[in-house]
Amino acid sequence: MQPITVDAQVSLQPVMVADAAEIFALVDSNRLHLRQWLPWVDATTTLTDMQKFLADASQDNKQGRDATFCVVHAASKVGICSLNAINKSPGQARIGYWLAEDYCGQGIMSRSVNSLCQFGFAVLKLHTLILCAAEHNEKSRAIAERLGFSNTRKIMAAEDLYGEEVNHIRYALTLSQFEKNDYDPSNYSA
Ligand SMILES: CC(C)(COP(=O)(O)OP(=O)(O)OC[C@H]1O[C@@H](n2cnc3c(N)ncnc32)[C@H](O)[C@@H]1OP(=O)(O)O)[C@@H](O)C(=O)NCCC(=O)NCCS
Repeated sequence: MQPITVDAQVSLQPVMVADAAEIFALVDSNRLHLRQWLPWVDATTTLTDMQKFLADASQDNKQGRDATFCVVHAASKVGICSLNAINKSPGQARIGYWLAEDYCGQGIMSRSVNSLCQFGFAVLKLHTLILCAAEHNEKSRAIAERLGFSNTRKIMAAEDLYGEEVNHIRYALTLSQFEKNDYDPSNYSA
């Protein structure tokens, strides 16, 4: 898997175990921000946990099951985005992502997910990408809607988030919806 250039400042680099210290430090300094919506944060307590995650993710990248990337901004790793459960037949994958709080609000993740979708459709030849966001995760839902995903259904009690049942909104994006959408990362206003 090759790195993906998003723009002059942002690129997506396939994850490596050697990234563990940097990514673990990022998670460790963003726990409150991330645990609002991500169920794995409290269970990621040591560098070894992160090394294991990245070893599994790199193996899954090699086998073509997942495509997990570090989001790199001006040479710093600032988050993760991924295509998971890649299934060439029927041509689907699920999208996941998180971004360190200091880098939010600048469109870094929208631009990264836009490039990830291009990769999924053009390189992996998928035809539908799925994105599930918690019903009240407005920032995540805004990314899906900005990129042209349509809201397919609400899944009740889809996740146990630290003892709280959370509903998900399931979004889907086909290649033709992606091509018709007018999101332009270099000329953004909205
Ligand atoms: C979900 C998450 C990645 C969203 O982060 P974000 O910073 O809102 O997303 P983006 O990087 O796309 O930035 C969007 C913001 O940048 C602005 N922006 C600036 N330039 C932009 C551009 N070129 N394209 C898109 N947005 C742009 C948007 O207006 C928006 O600002 P707003 O929040 O004031 O409306 C982040 O909140 C996060 O990591 N949360 C915790 C983990 C999580 O929820 N993961 C998702 C689980 S489904």
